[in-house]
Amino acid sequence: MSKKPKKIGILTSGGDCAGLNAIIRAVVKHAEVTYGWEVYGIEQGTRGFYARPPQMRRLRPESFDGTLLRQAGTILGTTNKGDPFAYPMADGTVKDRSAELIEGYNLAGLDALIGVGGDGSQAILNRLAKQGDIPLVCIPKTIDNDIGATEVAVGYDTAMQVATDALDKLQPTAASHSRVMVLEVMGRDAGHIALAAGIAGGADVILIPEIDYDMDVVAAKIQQLHDDGRNFALVMVAEAISVGGGKIFQDDPAGQKRYGGVGHYIGDDIAERTGAEVRVTVLGHIQRGGVPTPRDRLMASVFGVHAVDLIAEGRTGRMVAWANRQVTDLPIEEAIAAFANVRVDGPLVKTARGLGICFGDRLD
Ligand code: F6P
Repeated sequence: MSKKPKKIGILTSGGDCAGLNAIIRAVVKHAEVTYGWEVYGIEQGTRGFYARPPQMRRLRPESFDGTLLRQAGTILGTTNKGDPFAYPMADGTVKDRSAELIEGYNLAGLDALIGVGGDGSQAILNRLAKQGDIPLVCIPKTIDNDIGATEVAVGYDTAMQVATDALDKLQPTAASHSRVMVLEVMGRDAGHIALAAGIAGGADVILIPEIDYDMDVVAAKIQQLHDDGRNFALVMVAEAISVGGGKIFQDDPAGQKRYGGVGHYIGDDIAERTGAEVRVTVLGHIQRGGVPTPRDRLMASVFGVHAVDLIAEGRTGRMVAWANRQVTDLPIEEAIAAFANVRVDGPLVKTARGLGICFGDRLD
């Protein structure tokens, strides 16, 4: 017989995205209203468990009746730094602080934990859970949508909406000034945002990390559009494409490897090769904000409710997922093992090619 937990914790970890508050809402409402449990929000991801006493707060269903469902960010705070198994200390050394976190969890007096995160956060939480015997259920969120076991992760749909909206806004100004507009979007090593928003927003060229491109082909496409009488072009660029055999990272004082800025290289190259007037927009963290789309709120709700039910059934160590029009779940390690970037033989690449969108690998 599985133990029925009375107090559960929830934390958000990794980069934020739209829909996190909707997840927290679903967990709190279902746990408190359906099961009569108490839900505690852990502050700042796993960091709340380093504090003594652990930093957490009771979450109540009525707090979620108003605006939170509609708000991006996370009321609990989050972090995408500081792996507890190799924690960077102030003196420059790294330390395994996992035992402190497990002790923090035990001091919190919780019966189970829900961790909301991408693959990196889930890998850390799963390792902690195994080491500390913590009943854990994970909920996938990431604008990158690169967790293979789920068709959707919370946050992706809103990011796609924001990127599409950016193309919608760039197109009229591109046409007014007869310019080539380059839009750089996030997504880490997966080109999902660039591909989906590029199709939805009418891009002429989409460059993603999964498809090697040749700037001669990109320039020829833009020239062809011009020769056909078009006075503008829209070029969508994923942040992790390579330039000259390497990736473009931002200068980061903390030494973190952060993508950003490749759009400027592409823009300069297009201007040089075609003589077109080019402007570059790097969309950045705007993709993580915005009012969560209905689909993100829906997935957040589905995942939150299912995660609570898994705890009630004593089925922990699992990640909730969406597959074949169903909510499902699977072991966390299996779920995060499958990195899912864009399938170059998949339906969206085929669709884009069918629309005459150029990936820089050949002129269709
Ligand atoms: O993983 C989500 C993400 O937004 C990526 O798309 C992006 O490369 C990265 O996080 C940015 O991280 P940070 O918030 O540390 O700048």
